[in-house]
Order: sequence, then structure tokens, then C-alpha cells
Amino acid sequence: MTNTQHGPVTVLGLGAMGSALALAFRKAGVVTTVWNRSPGKDTELVAAGAVSVATAGAAVRGGELVVVVLLDHASVHETLDPIAAELTGKQLLNLTSTSPEQSRELAGWATAHGIEFLDGGIMAVPAMIGAEGSSILYSGSETVFTAHRPTLELLGSAEFFGSDPGLAAQWDFSLLTVMYTMFGGFFQGAALVGAAGVSASEFAARASNWVAAMAQSLPAFGRIIDSGDYTGEVSQDLVFTKTALDTLRQSASDAGITAEPLAGFADLVDHQVADGHGSAAFARTIEALRGN
Ligand SMILES: NC(=O)c1ccc[n+]([C@@H]2O[C@H](COP(=O)([O-])OP(=O)(O)OC[C@H]3O[C@@H](n4cnc5c(N)ncnc54)[C@H](OP(=O)(O)O)[C@@H]3O)[C@@H](O)[C@H]2O)c1
Repeated sequence: MTNTQHGPVTVLGLGAMGSALALAFRKAGVVTTVWNRSPGKDTELVAAGAVSVATAGAAVRGGELVVVVLLDHASVHETLDPIAAELTGKQLLNLTSTSPEQSRELAGWATAHGIEFLDGGIMAVPAMIGAEGSSILYSGSETVFTAHRPTLELLGSAEFFGSDPGLAAQWDFSLLTVMYTMFGGFFQGAALVGAAGVSASEFAARASNWVAAMAQSLPAFGRIIDSGDYTGEVSQDLVFTKTALDTLRQSASDAGITAEPLAGFADLVDHQVADGHGSAAFARTIEALRGN
């Protein structure tokens, strides 16, 4: 099955994510050429109608849009540098998780070689690609984004953030920061309640409801931070927060577990109180992150 509504696509990298992306393209009938450094990862894709080729250069020739989804920034350069000439005049989409500065560097490299560059941050795991809940954040060339938007929407919702090629990664990494700190907190909580014999599964059921309820307060925190005024009516000030965090650290220590995930955050609160901001809103902790 071929769908001529979508231009041909090349996918460089058939790890868990690259395979999921290529499969979503093929399921919609997009002409898809794939390449992977190591052989043997293309079986399902070839069965689904993808064209698998032996070199990255040959793969690039098959696609109008070239999607690179490799391990990291270094592997992207290792793969693309030798085939820059083949990429000239093409449209390149980097879906490798590169830092904002690395995405900007790649954009500069692409421009210098006459390649149009779009960067993306994938807010999904491979099993979610093409399904509800999958979201990809884009920035860089709006021309590339607009030209291929229907094809990109086969992977998940597609949102363009602006011409700064590092912006999608900036959003991506900020959201991942929230995610990993949440997981760190969950692991510490599971260890703490586990010391009393509660299973992690039982804890998870209650913790997920608690996280969802607490997430409701994020917009209010956002408004306080954006106003820069931490002195208004506060439901939770920094002294109150410090007292709570000190007790949490003590309870971890009493249970014989490390409070490391919480400790970095608690230190920021301690510094704010030590600097005389004890009566300010808890949201003022962000100023400690900014070095204020
Ligand atoms: N998996 C996720 O949940 C997820 C979610 C969002 C974003 N991402 C991002 O998507 C990217 C790919 O992730 P993945 O899950 O597909 O990882 P993966 O399963 O570990 O696959 C890594 C891919 O990179 C290739 N590779 C590694 N080093 C290379 C090099 N020096 N030259 C050429 N190819 C090289 C591997 O090729 P070989 O097969 O030859 O080793 C493989 O195709 C990462 O940047 C990741 O952060 C992943």
C-alpha cells in the first residue's frame, strides 16, 4: 500500500524508537526507506513494506524528509557528517534526544551544508507512537514543519514552537526534568513506606492519585513565579516547607533509607530560609535555582 499524499520518508536508526516511527509511517502507506548501523533490525519493517538499504547515504536518497533517530548527538554526527553532500537540498528532522545547544549546533551544521533543519522532542515511548497520547514538539524550520505536518501527525500530535532549533529540546528536557524528579520521589516514597512492609504496587495506586491531585496546583505556582511576587497571601511559606522537609528527611533516616532524591530540593529551601525569605511563598524556591 502506498499513500501518495505523503512524500517519501527516510528513517536513519532502527532502535526501539526509530522502528516505531518507521512502522507508523508504513502503516499509513508512506514510502519509507530505512537504515540501521547494525543489521537485523529491519525484519518487521521490510515485512510492512519498508525499503531497507545498506548505507545511510543510500537511505537518504530515498526520502524527501530524512528522520534521524539515533542514540545521541555524537552518533548523529558520526552518521551524517560523511553523507553531508547527499543531504544537501534535503529536509532533515532530528528526533534524537539532543540538548538544546546540541540541536542548535546541528541546525548550524545543516545550514552550512544547505540542508533545511527541523528538530523534535518526542513526548512518548515507542509503544505510544501513532496512538493517542503521543506528542512531538518541533522547532526550527517552519517550512519543513508545514510541508510535512500531515506526515508528522501520523506519529502523534505535532506542535511547532518557533524558529529557534533548540526550543523543542528546551521544552522536552524541561518536561523530562519534571518526570524524572517525580519518579525519584516515587522511588523514595516506595522505599519509605516499603520499610513498613507496604508493597510498591499498593503504594503506586495511591501515589498516582496523589500526584494527579497535586498537579492541579501547578498553574497557581506558574502564576506566582511569573508575577515575581512571592509576598502575597501564601498558603505555604518557606519556613513551613522547611519544617515539613526536615521531618521527611528525618523519617527517611529513621527508616534506614537515603533521602537523596528529596535532599537537593530540601537544600534549596534551606538556603532560601537562611537568606531571610522564610515568610515568602514556597514557589520562591525557583529563585534559588536561578542563583538568587
Ligand atoms: N525509547 C524511548 O522511550 C524514547 C522516548 C523519547 C525519545 N527517545 C530518543 O530516541 C532516540 C533513540 O532511542 P531508542 O529508544 O531508539 O534507542 P535504542 O533502542 O538504544 O537505539 C539506538 C539507535 O542508535 C543507533 N546508534 C547508536 N550509536 C550509533 C552510532 N555511533 N552510529 C550509528 N548509529 C548508532 C543504534 O544502532 P545499532 O542498532 O547499530 O546499535 C540504534 O539504531 C534517543 O535519542 C532517545 O533519547 C527515545
